[in-house]
Amino acid sequence: MKTLVVFYSRSGTTKRVAEELAKALNADVDEVIDKKSRRGIIGFLRAGYDATRGKTTEIEFTKDPSKYDLVIVGTPVWNGRITPAIKTYLLRNRERIKGAVFFATCAGRAGKCLEQMEELYGDKALLKKTIVKKELEKGIRELKEELKALITT
Ligand SMILES: Cc1cc2nc3c(=O)[nH]c(=O)nc-3n(C[C@H](O)[C@H](O)[C@H](O)COP(=O)(O)O)c2cc1C
Repeated sequence: MKTLVVFYSRSGTTKRVAEELAKALNADVDEVIDKKSRRGIIGFLRAGYDATRGKTTEIEFTKDPSKYDLVIVGTPVWNGRITPAIKTYLLRNRERIKGAVFFATCAGRAGKCLEQMEELYGDKALLKKTIVKKELEKGIRELKEELKALITT
């Protein structure tokens, strides 16, 4: 099964999960870049504000998801919500994603992030998972196993 792992990451956690999943599944990876700066305290405050307001943003990505059988999309949780970068990505690509898996990384309170991803996609995900940062290794291991089971069934 041709698989793509797409992610946005502000501080590296979601990137780490995405890269480990891609390695385990022999999948391609595509990092979504948010053109709006999310650095420093101003960037942090704006990030929370934009996520709460449900804003979209200007993004860059390189791979065409319609070329894949399965697209795994990962986002950090911001104020209990999806990031503007992944919101924009899903709105732009939902018609091009045949089968979706969603994951979110967070500090402990994922809120409605995964449900929001399904709403934006307009369909149910084949699998969805929250990974809490302080249990990152466990979360990655479990998600890898769940994905391998999904792919082989
Ligand atoms: C603006 C902002 C808002 C956040 N809001 C939440 C939240 O509501 N719940 C939570 O558990 N973690 C929250 N976090 C923590 C991140 O979701 C968590 O650290 C995530 O793993 C970071 O992923 P990244 O390193 O890929 O950017 C927030 C972080 C930022 C920057």
